[in-house]
Amino acid sequence: MKLSELTLDREGLAAAIACEDAAFEAALREEAYRVKVDTIGPEVYLRGLIEISNICVKNCLYCGIRRDIRSQRYELSEEEVLATARIATRRRFGSVVIQGGERTDAAFVRKITRLLKEIKAIDTGDAPSLGVTLSLGEQSREVYEEWFDAGAHRYLLRIESSNPDLYHKIHPNDSLHAYDRRVRALYDLKEIGYQAGTGAMIGMPFQTPEDLADDLLFYKKFDAPMVGMGPYNPHPETPLTLTGTPYPSAERRFALGLKMIALLRLLMPDINIAAATALEVLDPRGREKGLLSGANVIMPNITPEEQMVKYNLYDRKTLNASDVQDLVDRGIVIGYGRWGDSKHFQKK
Ligand code: 5AD
Ligand code: SF4
Repeated sequence: MKLSELTLDREGLAAAIACEDAAFEAALREEAYRVKVDTIGPEVYLRGLIEISNICVKNCLYCGIRRDIRSQRYELSEEEVLATARIATRRRFGSVVIQGGERTDAAFVRKITRLLKEIKAIDTGDAPSLGVTLSLGEQSREVYEEWFDAGAHRYLLRIESSNPDLYHKIHPNDSLHAYDRRVRALYDLKEIGYQAGTGAMIGMPFQTPEDLADDLLFYKKFDAPMVGMGPYNPHPETPLTLTGTPYPSAERRFALGLKMIALLRLLMPDINIAAATALEVLDPRGREKGLLSGANVIMPNITPEEQMVKYNLYDRKTLNASDVQDLVDRGIVIGYGRWGDSKHFQKK
């Protein structure tokens, strides 16, 4: 397939996703990078990632911190989260993401509310207060409102797969893991006023090129101001891995991950697209390659190391944590001290 033959409808996207021609894939990535620079400029925004806890009430079949896996659980104290947020300020990251397993108990909800108020009060000198994105799963509308009022302005909730059948194949079949509930949560977030980001895993068992094309069209239909998607990386102890269902090779999943970023950039030129951590696990220069394929956000992991190693969604021993100097050295332009809202959202 040639780049000039690409169309951005379902059929065209699926054909591009299925095409494994290296020259086509490289041309597509270059084109997406050009569109990014032309539309939103060369700058890359940083979000310091704080993994607050690996305790989770859910049991997603692909995830290494699912409820049924016996692993050492941790929860950062309020002081630890604040100290980490202060590090983000000192490093001029401009914003943080608080991510963790899903919990809906009142103690946890209140803790997040308090933390949001405290983080917003951190002295940032001349710079705006730290921007805060939450990524804490499905919550009631009231809880989303409480956190929004406390100062969170962005929320990440991946749809994981936009195909309800595939969604149900990779999740237990119960009301806690219902596709419709997840979609409802995304629309709740948007209605409350969050910049609601979503995304999906790429290269999963059972997943077809058409499914991936539909994921892209889902982001478009939802009008997502930000998207974070990344390759599926098998975790050895999860049901999805243990059942032995085949999935693409590491090399293909990586190429697919970059290709999805590039196609999304062409489909939605002015949104924020993250080069996900999962890319880095597959290639030591994964983040940089994601940025050169059209992504404009990276999330350096600033979780204290002792806990970071326990947040094992998948095997990520090779993760190069929070250093961004390598990117600067290679000429990537970093938007220090900025919230980095998407141009798409600002226009509304
Ligand atoms: N491979 C890749 N991504 C995963 N996630 C969970 N398990 C895996 C895995 N095995 C992602 C999910 C979730 C995010 C926190 O981590 O997409 O939304
Ligand atoms: Fe919990 Fe998220 Fe893992 Fe599902 S993917 S088990 S909700 S941490």
